[in-house]
Amino acid sequence: MSERAIVTNALYQILSEHLSEEEILLLLENPKSAQHGDVAFPVFSLAKILRKAPQQIATELVTQLPTEDFDRIEAVGPYINFFLNKRKESQKALALILEQNAHYGDATIGEKQMIPIDMSSPNIAKPISMGHLRSTVIGNSLANILRKIGYTPIKINYLGDWGTQFGKLIVAYKKWGSEEAVKNAPIQELLKLYVDFHARAETEPELEDEGRLWFKKLEDGDEEALRLWQWFREESLKEFQHIYDMLDISFDSYNGEAFFNDKMDEVIHLLEEKNLLQTNEGAEIVDLSDYDLNPALIRKSDGATLYMTRDLAAAIYRKNTYHFVQSLYVVGNEQRIHFKQLKAVLSKLGFDWSDDIRHVPFGLITKDGKKLSTRKGKIVLLEEVLNEAVDSAKAQIIAKNPDLENKDEIAHQVGVGAVIFHDLKNDRLNNFDFTLDEVVRFEGETGPYVQYTYARSASILRKADWTQRNIPLESLSLNDEDSWEVIKLLQAFPTTVQKAANKYEPSIIAKHAIQLAQSFNKYYAHVKILTEDKERDARLALVYAVKTVLKEDLRLLGLKAPEEM
Ligand code: ARG
Repeated sequence: MSERAIVTNALYQILSEHLSEEEILLLLENPKSAQHGDVAFPVFSLAKILRKAPQQIATELVTQLPTEDFDRIEAVGPYINFFLNKRKESQKALALILEQNAHYGDATIGEKQMIPIDMSSPNIAKPISMGHLRSTVIGNSLANILRKIGYTPIKINYLGDWGTQFGKLIVAYKKWGSEEAVKNAPIQELLKLYVDFHARAETEPELEDEGRLWFKKLEDGDEEALRLWQWFREESLKEFQHIYDMLDISFDSYNGEAFFNDKMDEVIHLLEEKNLLQTNEGAEIVDLSDYDLNPALIRKSDGATLYMTRDLAAAIYRKNTYHFVQSLYVVGNEQRIHFKQLKAVLSKLGFDWSDDIRHVPFGLITKDGKKLSTRKGKIVLLEEVLNEAVDSAKAQIIAKNPDLENKDEIAHQVGVGAVIFHDLKNDRLNNFDFTLDEVVRFEGETGPYVQYTYARSASILRKADWTQRNIPLESLSLNDEDSWEVIKLLQAFPTTVQKAANKYEPSIIAKHAIQLAQSFNKYYAHVKILTEDKERDARLALVYAVKTVLKEDLRLLGLKAPEEM
């Protein structure tokens, strides 16, 4: 039972005539300072019913409340402050974690239902951007969180592998490209061809027509166009794979935009059937003025389909394939209108599940204060960022722990983990700046700090030669203030996971990890854990519980937990 449930239960025993359990629960507050207890109940709402002064009500109720679940109950002004029974609570919490281990916090809420998560989705022939990194790590963490509460997430990398840009790229390659150059550094070279194309098209506008022609050929299945496109795609994917390997993130599907090329006629057909297509300057659109949105562009005047058309086909395909309860799109906030339009068109098509389509937007990353853009060939290679983070982690590890074995592996876990954690620790809609030094700090609210705390807990258990086992309840009893802070955070873990899932917000897990690490480090500083006395087992069980829950926090975020660092 949660703290609030325990307090509600006690209050309900004496207030059932006046208030329901739900009403009591809604009135409870968390006192700002620990000296006012763990949970507070303001009595104002009873004043009218009982026709007494709030202070008096509080004082009288305190004498009537059952006491077995509490260390103390105090009336302070119009409030009743509850101090939970620390010994009892620590016994319950530690016994549960000792029994459930990594399954602590698991739930069956999702009933195995499927939730496709559209994530990462970089564009072929262009470098993965910081935005794609965000989408990748947020999507991956959401998948872990949703799986923990019983859903079946489907991680979909909806590659940007179709569209007019591929016509342009084919033209540029045929005119100025070389096979060797592409093979050597695929993305760099393809990006260069693309940039060159735009530079030249300014003075030679007929290039644009050629580009359109070649995309049309591609859509119609022309052999040469398809062969080149496939090759660009494969070479790009190989490069993306390096980054996914570094992050240790995998996907259930790579069905990108191209996959839907042959599924688009069906969408057009559906739109026609419902009389939703209108012609506007030769192009076909769906009017969305009744949704206060600009029209959705479905087909260009030359018959070529668009981003929207492919997303419509993909949404319908996902519904038919996965019978989803929700369908998530982890995509930058700048595309929010696109997703509103997508939902609106689906709803006009009569699909009641359009409500289950959820855009999960996130803010922009700048690096050293500047916006990152690939358009002008100004690229930050993500792989370099990750490598720099690993190098910096390694330098710090060598300085702190020169004797550590497998330094490279741990530096990798810490460096990459630092980048992921930094990305996930703030509300996802916040914009933030990426400065390497700040990301890989071992102190403050960083991934390395949490990992370091985890390694510390592992080291204490090694030193104590303590192994996980079930310990009788009476030996799991703690009642000091420092352990109490830790216990409360351990108890909050299951609801924290559910909150993170409901809000699609991994930062809620990251914040829990930071708080748990901080409170544990405070405990470690104040208490001699290894002293031989009758509470030693309880203290070590607490260390084990912290280690277990920190590891779950880290795993949900997509970070490794090194036993030593
Ligand atoms: N490839 C797109 C881009 O880089 C993102 C795709 C997002 N997913 C979607 N279903 N539209 O901007």
